[in-house]
Amino acid sequence: MIFLGIESSCDETALALVENGRRVLSSAISSQVDVHSKWGGVIPEIAAREHLNALSSMYTNMLKSAAFKANDVDAIAVTQGPGLIGCLLVGVSFAKGLAQASGKPLIPVNHVHAHVHGALLGLDAKYEDIFPTLALVVSGGHTNLYFMKSPRHFELLAHTIDDACGESFDKVGKMLGLPYPGGPHVEALARKGDASKISLPRMIERKSQMVFSYSGLKTAVSRAVASQPTTGQKLEDIAAAFQEEALGQIVRKLELAYKARPESRSIIVAGGVAANQRFKDLVQGMTSLPVLFPPLDYCSDNGAMIAALGYHQWMAGDFDPSLGWDVYSRYPFEKFLTSTNQN
Ligand code: KG4
Ligand code: ZN
Repeated sequence: MIFLGIESSCDETALALVENGRRVLSSAISSQVDVHSKWGGVIPEIAAREHLNALSSMYTNMLKSAAFKANDVDAIAVTQGPGLIGCLLVGVSFAKGLAQASGKPLIPVNHVHAHVHGALLGLDAKYEDIFPTLALVVSGGHTNLYFMKSPRHFELLAHTIDDACGESFDKVGKMLGLPYPGGPHVEALARKGDASKISLPRMIERKSQMVFSYSGLKTAVSRAVASQPTTGQKLEDIAAAFQEEALGQIVRKLELAYKARPESRSIIVAGGVAANQRFKDLVQGMTSLPVLFPPLDYCSDNGAMIAALGYHQWMAGDFDPSLGWDVYSRYPFEKFLTSTNQN
């Protein structure tokens, strides 16, 4: 089965052709970072217009470079949400048009859940050697920890109660005078710093609650920046101390989750922050289980992860052939989230 995956929920327009949920035949990702960087963050209306400009030609070029015809695609998967509403509407309308014209099935996919499948692309491992798994999605919009019994089963164990981890990297990056998006720049600065030189609060240390929190850490960083002479070395130390706690709290909760779910056979770390080398080292250092990270191209938003989860939904018959469905945005509209836990 060859799936076309379409992603347009934020500031990447992305398309991919994926065979049987694992093998990427072709992938095209167009980032809007240059367009938004002068504003210091994503401007939703500009993002939607950029998707509108990019999608048709990217689709045509991808089919051409993969020597595929529209009819060679067995089904289409598209990000239904969560995301920026205008951006989602562009991708979903494009996908509905393709499905209507070609008569192929269209599968609406949850973007956050799909990130997990980014880590399985290209792997040969059998699903029964991976699942049950503890799966982290750590991105600009989400910090979620799931227990998954199978590729479509998502039991949410922990989530953030304020900012997302990647979002906090971006905001701290801004405080440190770094370009947008801050994540990779904070990581590069932190590599030169000494985390022990700066004291930042450890979040939720005494609570067994399975939640993440970044707003207090962010405030502590802004105080540290304001109170220190802004020498290069100080900024490096602040970046290192921030990164240690931003990632450390996730690893501590992951350890708790593993104690509660010892039947887990692997750990999956996905989403934009999975590109962080320190994160990889911390997670690998806490467990003897196999830890799966996406290849770098599939950490951030991409069409292949959408095609991959779409494939599993299609195999389970989980889609509405009428095309009579809407998008859902960043906000958890209950009626769109009823299918969160599936077997
Ligand atoms: O998954 P993604 O592309 O978008 C969302 O679905 O939100 O993740 C983007 C996020 C940004 O916040 C970016 O700063 C962060 O991932 N990020 C990183 C690194 N690379 C990207 N954060 C920390 N370290 C990195 N190396
Ligand atoms: Zn994402």
